[in-house]
Amino acid sequence: MCGIVGYVGRFSENREYFAEDVVLEGLRRLEYRGYDSAGLAVYFDGQLQWRKKAGKVAELEAEIAARPLPNSVLGIGHTRWATHGGPSDINSHPHVVAGGKLAVVHNGIIENFAELKSSMQDKGYHFVSDTDTEVAAAVLADLFEQTGELTLAMRKACQLFDGAFTLLAIHADQPDQIVAARRDSPLVIGLGEGENFLGSDVSGFIDYTKKAVEMDNDHIVTVTADEVVITDYDGNPQEGKRFDIEWDAAAAEKGGFASFMEKEIHDQPAAVRDTLMGRVDEKGNLAIDELRIEESLLKSIDKIIVIACGTAAYAGHVARYAIEHWCRIPTEVELAHEFRYRDPIVNEKTLVVALSQSGETMDTLMAVRHARQQGAKVIAICNTQGASIPREADAALYTHAGPEIAVASTKAFLAQITATYVLGLYLAQLRGNMFADEVEAILDDLRAMPEKVQTVIDGKETVTSLAKSMQDATSVLFLGRHVGFPVALEGALKLKEIAYLHAEGFAAGELKHGPIALVEEGQPVFVIVPSPRGRDSLHAKVVSNIQEVRARGAITIVIAEEGDEAVEAYANHIIRIPQAPTLMQPLLATVPLQIFACKVAEAKGYDVDQPRNLAKSVTVE
Ligand code: G6P
Repeated sequence: MCGIVGYVGRFSENREYFAEDVVLEGLRRLEYRGYDSAGLAVYFDGQLQWRKKAGKVAELEAEIAARPLPNSVLGIGHTRWATHGGPSDINSHPHVVAGGKLAVVHNGIIENFAELKSSMQDKGYHFVSDTDTEVAAAVLADLFEQTGELTLAMRKACQLFDGAFTLLAIHADQPDQIVAARRDSPLVIGLGEGENFLGSDVSGFIDYTKKAVEMDNDHIVTVTADEVVITDYDGNPQEGKRFDIEWDAAAAEKGGFASFMEKEIHDQPAAVRDTLMGRVDEKGNLAIDELRIEESLLKSIDKIIVIACGTAAYAGHVARYAIEHWCRIPTEVELAHEFRYRDPIVNEKTLVVALSQSGETMDTLMAVRHARQQGAKVIAICNTQGASIPREADAALYTHAGPEIAVASTKAFLAQITATYVLGLYLAQLRGNMFADEVEAILDDLRAMPEKVQTVIDGKETVTSLAKSMQDATSVLFLGRHVGFPVALEGALKLKEIAYLHAEGFAAGELKHGPIALVEEGQPVFVIVPSPRGRDSLHAKVVSNIQEVRARGAITIVIAEEGDEAVEAYANHIIRIPQAPTLMQPLLATVPLQIFACKVAEAKGYDVDQPRNLAKSVTVE
């Protein structure tokens, strides 16, 4: 939640771009993190100037067009997802204090803000906003007055703050630098030539550099045009970890599509292909990107717990079927925010798999920490380099889906399933559950999937016209069995997220235990039909479920593989997907559901990429 950008360079009148350009571009790219207000502050000629506005970054741009800012080489910006204080101009960041000399942007929550606020009020400070950020800014200003040095003031301030935060500050009396701090909220540093950058993630400065530095928790960085100095809160020097950014700027553009979501749906064949790439070494062994766990330990684990939130959790549910089948290790899937509060049974023999596109979801990060404290080993499956979850895990396996900008996750889901399958096969091979040729045969099935996913995408017209015809539906149900069950849940989630439509996913077998009471004349019901070439009984039972809802007046939309004729008699609409082994089907059956949600939302005139109330990266608990 909240996107943060900072820029510091060297001044010359004939530069091609200035701080305002870099910061606004970064905010546009980070807008997926929160979009209820935006603002920026720059330094020029002895003073700070700032603009901030409720609404999207476009509103801020209009404000700047109406009241232009000076050419500057020092600036910070923020795009907000409100926590303390509703979205308004006043509550927008930056918060500027000390008579207009100090500007602060913040992501996270300062938990002890009430206490700090009253002590600042006792000192005579008058607050104008409802935010915890203004309190942080006031504390920082007070400490700057005492120390005369922004880095020192930030160190002292951070020692007073409880909670999670990334803070960026600039001061008119030290106009060559940005001082930033982080605790449990994201921040990466971008390295340029005679200029440096800060961002909540690398997409904040992806247009300008491919070199970045990860920063650990409880560290502070002072960034000038030529230097990056990291310390802990006591001032002890610290090293950041350098890395090269693999994403390119074009990958974070819409590329001619109407929305990022649509573009990302079309990216899915590449996301699966790239996630599989380079996984097998010359000896035929499967490779994990960063492995800091002894293989002997992985051989001894007796339980796997997948922790994740939202779409990633549904990818985890799909993974469970494959991992248990291939590895014969009992596997649980748990929502990260429930995990640590139920006192889970976790020990050195437990392997926790943390699934997260962003690698920053606070609930998942906290669950990772809890699991490690209990002695479990953690493997992170993430899409974002330099993020907190892979950094804190014992091993990391990266999905190579490229930047996912639309709030509703699509390509990350397919990439997560692919990566969990790679992990399952790796464990099965390591533990001797499968022979190398068996692993290879499944990898071949996986390698065939990108082309099949493309076939589903190419058939999008059928789904598009269906979506248009159903845009006035008030409720949609989704049914699936086995791996089709999490696919049904994901189909319903997509519709809720972006089309604001009541939707529920059910295990098809559960239908008769309650949900069938919802079915009345005209109720749209999607049914994901397993392959008739898989477990025979599974297919037959789902076909019976279609009959049952159809008999009660439902409009049935059946997702079935090519050649499955048994469904024809009971389907009002059929969406065909290519034939694939049972465990591979989620990679295909999910795609029409994504397209359906996207097209219903478009038909209703909603903002597909930035649905109301949501944010892509949820960095508060
Ligand atoms: C938010 C997003 C979802 C996403 C979930 C988990 O709720 O809106 O699209 O699935 O977070 O995100 P992660 O980055 O951990 O995969």
